[in-house]
Amino acid sequence: MRRRLGAVAAFVLGLAAWMAPVAPEATVRAGSDEGCVASDALLFGGDANIPPTKRKAMLAWLQEKRYLEGYVAEPAVHPSSGPHGGNVRTFFNTILAEDLRAGRTSFRKGAAMVKELYFGSTDTVRGYAVMVKVKKKAGASGQGWLFMESFNGTQADFYGRGIGLCADCHSAGTDFLLSEFRP
Ligand code: HEC
Repeated sequence: MRRRLGAVAAFVLGLAAWMAPVAPEATVRAGSDEGCVASDALLFGGDANIPPTKRKAMLAWLQEKRYLEGYVAEPAVHPSSGPHGGNVRTFFNTILAEDLRAGRTSFRKGAAMVKELYFGSTDTVRGYAVMVKVKKKAGASGQGWLFMESFNGTQADFYGRGIGLCADCHSAGTDFLLSEFRP
């Protein structure tokens, strides 16, 4: 319980960081284990459409804006209806887009979403939230999903499989997907 409260505090702090003149370092990192046991090559066969699951590689991939290649984007930047800090825009990878078009309600391994966090602006990406399905089944607590959120785009404030804070809220969605956008 104490850990959970700490995680919530860090989440709120992280959201507040963009408003503060000096961003406080988020000190709590939920799920500090590397997200996946197997390498990306073993997991996904090196598919460039799937974000790398290791923390540093994922952040580098985001900074290079690799999700702009082959992802389906929400039509515009819009205010988040969740606690994701101001304005957002979500991108779906090919596996997820195909699954949604086929009417699947449980997505295949490799399905991924990248959410750009704009906070108060509508033209400057400040951070990211990412989900990657790393197992065939999500499981009740979302262990099949890798969650990552970075409020400054360079450091992972949250990173891990089935992080309670993320998964509890996202479990209300279609296989943990909450955005109502459909490609
Ligand atoms: C209290 C609810 C809540 C919590 C907690 C939450 N989210 Fe979300 N999230 C949402 C909502 C609502 C959306 C739909 C898009 C929007 O309006 O921002 C969303 C969208 C997303 C998306 C785009 C894909 C989708 O499901 O629509 C990602 C990726 C994401 N969240 C990651 C995370 C991560 C990582 C965490 C934990 C650090 C987290 N979320 C915690 C409510 C939540």
